Amino acid sequence: MKIGMISDLHVDINQKTLEPNQTALSLIIDLVMKHELDILLIAGDISNHYKESQLFIEHIQTATKAEVYFTPGNHDYWSKDHEVKDTNIIDNYFMSKQQSLVGKPKIINEKWAIVGTPGWYDYGYGDHDQYTVEQFEKKKYKFASWNDRHYVDWGVDDQTVSKKMLKQLIKDIEATEGRQLILMTHVATHPEFVVPLPNRIYDYANGFLGAKSYEYLYDQYPTIKYSLMGHVHFRKTFREGDRTFIVACLGNKRHWRHKNFKAQLEKTLVVIDI
Ligand SMILES: [Fe+2]
Repeated sequence: MKIGMISDLHVDINQKTLEPNQTALSLIIDLVMKHELDILLIAGDISNHYKESQLFIEHIQTATKAEVYFTPGNHDYWSKDHEVKDTNIIDNYFMSKQQSLVGKPKIINEKWAIVGTPGWYDYGYGDHDQYTVEQFEKKKYKFASWNDRHYVDWGVDDQTVSKKMLKQLIKDIEATEGRQLILMTHVATHPEFVVPLPNRIYDYANGFLGAKSYEYLYDQYPTIKYSLMGHVHFRKTFREGDRTFIVACLGNKRHWRHKNFKAQLEKTLVVIDI
């Protein structure tokens, strides 16, 4: 069983990096077929429009034999380019789709399952000696500003959203009955994937990169063998014991070594065989 992993394709922002005869969709379809993937996992941030993101994954699934699973990222929830301002409506839209893992983990076989949640930042990786929870909640402090404050509205605070998603994820993990797990989140859930502090900008901005409270899952559930996350816009894989942590973010051009979408996409995709 071959499983491909990728995130942060940002197909709208990256449109300008494509050659005239290319589309992000056709390039990823080619890649799924080339690797003969059975499953493709996308850990969020396909685009700034929820319908475009959903259509994108449905097109991949129709054009290839692969099943696609998706955990939305903060950009997929953005309301910048449409009128749906209540983020909960977009969340319900994604959860109603076949490609969502929330409340319906993918049982692969007797041995393996996939669980996932977007996950939401809980400010845990920020520097709490310097900043209060209220300062993180404002998502703006002097030179640092986090644009979700304009385009995401859950109606409750971020820490409440983060906790609610974690609670559901624990339920979903329990439902896999001891199978070995691939966990997929959009936000970072391991300190290795946030910026080491102190750092002038990230003392504050790290608060929005991940959910530190989710680290508890790694102690609690040794069955998590792979953990895929997105959001941080770089690429890195490392092992801790018999667990592999993966970030496979395409991100945007200023984070690329190859200044060409196709070449960078090929470098970014991680494929595992289970
Ligand atoms: Fe992103």
